[in-house]
Amino acid sequence: MVKLLEDVREISALTYGFIASKALFAALDLDLFTRIAQGKTTLPELASATGVAANRLRTLLTALKTVGLVSETQGRFANAPAADGYLLAGAAGDFRDYIRVVNGGFLYESLRHLDKALRGERVFKDKGFYEGIVYSEGGVGGEAFSEAQHAGSLGPAQLMARRIDLGNARALLDVGGGSGAYTLAFLRRNPQLRATILDFPETTETARRYCAEAGLGDRVTHVAGNALTTPWPASQDVVLMSYLWSAVGGPDIVTLAQRAYQALKPGGQVLVHDFMVDDQHEGPAFAAWYLLASMPDNPQAECLSTGFVEKCLADAGFAIDGTTPMIAEITQLARAHRPS
Ligand SMILES: C[S@@+](CC[C@H](N)C(=O)[O-])C[C@H]1O[C@@H](n2cnc3c(N)ncnc32)[C@H](O)[C@@H]1O
Repeated sequence: MVKLLEDVREISALTYGFIASKALFAALDLDLFTRIAQGKTTLPELASATGVAANRLRTLLTALKTVGLVSETQGRFANAPAADGYLLAGAAGDFRDYIRVVNGGFLYESLRHLDKALRGERVFKDKGFYEGIVYSEGGVGGEAFSEAQHAGSLGPAQLMARRIDLGNARALLDVGGGSGAYTLAFLRRNPQLRATILDFPETTETARRYCAEAGLGDRVTHVAGNALTTPWPASQDVVLMSYLWSAVGGPDIVTLAQRAYQALKPGGQVLVHDFMVDDQHEGPAFAAWYLLASMPDNPQAECLSTGFVEKCLADAGFAIDGTTPMIAEITQLARAHRPS
């Protein structure tokens, strides 16, 4: 159980916390951590490299110091170890684009509409969450979003492909597959496998490009459409839905579970990977927060929990194999199969 707050300063930390997030997004827009790693370590050097006046950059760097992203010693700035590991060009765990575009752009934009969302009102009357907030004019944009999602999905995709043995599978359907990060990870590990990626047309071209660049384009078919209305290819061994159930409402989840069942051969398996809280709705916090940010333009959005996801799969006829954490403290993977 989470420790209950006792002190007013703990409440203040929460009320100001979004400003710290914004400081990080702004630092990434200026690529400050990369510049520091490249030797621009004084305020004048950083001001000159970024084109931001020293007085204003000082304020940003001070905010970054307070959250432990950089330190300053005798006028020279240094990156925190985590900044060096994940927030600069060339770092093994670089996920700057995911933070900037998905968290800083898409989720932040989405949260501007939270009051409406809580009242059950929509921002875009005739569109869903992605079509409205990501793909509409003035939104993050399909290509930018998919590229950023790709940066965030590469690591977890490799992890999932290592954990889930698809050695006997021949056909994988990746619904809401986005850039194809998960498809590509599974194809690399399973030479006998072919895949279909179904996503909105705004994303299909980006996926096609990533698959071609990976040299795997000839093993992937792309279907541009809406997962809720476009027919799915049949006779699949595996259906994967990663971060799709959090993007649609409860009735649509029922449809997706039923469509997955219909698309699979008997014995075939369904993988649902998403932000999920535990069944007591205690956490993890990042999953709970992401689900809150997914509510705009999706009045029927559910607070996905592991039990809820398993029940939806069972109601569609699946035999449940279990749910396990995927990205620690953030996402879960529910597995089930269509009985033979
Ligand atoms: C957060 S992204 C995840 C992409 C990919 N599955 C991954 O994990 O990297 C969610 C994807 O679902 C797609 N999506 C959402 N609703 C959809 C729908 N109704 N039909 C098809 N695709 C949808 C979005 O376009 C987006 O590419």
